[in-house]
Amino acid sequence: MDNARPIGVFDSGIGGMTVVRAIMQHLPHENIVYFGDTARVPYGPKSPQVVREYALQDTDVLLKHDVKLIVIACNTVSAVALDVVQKRAKVPVVGVIIPGAEAAVKASAKKRIGIIGTLGTIFSNAYTNAIRQIDPAVKVTGQPCPLFVPLAEEGWIDHKATELIAKEYLFPLTLEKVDTVVLGCTHYPILRKIIQKVLHSDVTLIDSGEATTVAVKKMLKDMHLENTSTQKPNLKFFVSDVPHKFMEIGEQFLGTKLGKVHRVEGFLT
Ligand code: DGL
Repeated sequence: MDNARPIGVFDSGIGGMTVVRAIMQHLPHENIVYFGDTARVPYGPKSPQVVREYALQDTDVLLKHDVKLIVIACNTVSAVALDVVQKRAKVPVVGVIIPGAEAAVKASAKKRIGIIGTLGTIFSNAYTNAIRQIDPAVKVTGQPCPLFVPLAEEGWIDHKATELIAKEYLFPLTLEKVDTVVLGCTHYPILRKIIQKVLHSDVTLIDSGEATTVAVKKMLKDMHLENTSTQKPNLKFFVSDVPHKFMEIGEQFLGTKLGKVHRVEGFLT
């Protein structure tokens, strides 16, 4: 077993870079291969059938790179396609829903949790079901926030328009008196400051990508799959459309330079 094999991460596009960022912080010696399906993003408004099909194709890209474990960074994919990806891959697969749900239940003293995500994630009820499995007494309120994705990609992280939209979206969660909110979408950690401001400082925000990284770290340790090398890790980025925009926004999401980004051919909408 070669522990230097990379961790594979995939997402519908750029957003999964927030998860790569968390992996780089918590697991600084792991090699990473990332695939973002930039030709077909967004997945959020698409039907579960389409997302499941896309997820299998994304998985195949990573499997070609001999990954030792797959992280589904995309909440929408994790919500509706975890089972098909697990079936396809011969390696362990981790989605963001269960780690996010576990972290939220742990954090919520009042047992009142809000979930924000894409339409696909919220309508799937995946977070609600995962939370109820852990603690049936928790009251869960889901709220789709589809406009947060383009706002984050536009870099409007401190913009009045974003604050106005956040107030509109998050008002139902305030009414429900939630004490914990799951950032159930790859893009939302970028808007964390404004979301926290609108929800008030006593509400705990859970970054599902960060929670997943903690779970991955434990999993690698338990399975004796940690990379023991202390060399600078190798990071490889692949996308399905021309890489220009990915490079520009990806660096903001990742918080560091990306290096070369490669295009994978054959992904048509
Ligand atoms: N990556 C998606 C998610 O976390 C957001 C962007 C999209 O709709 O594809 O759900």
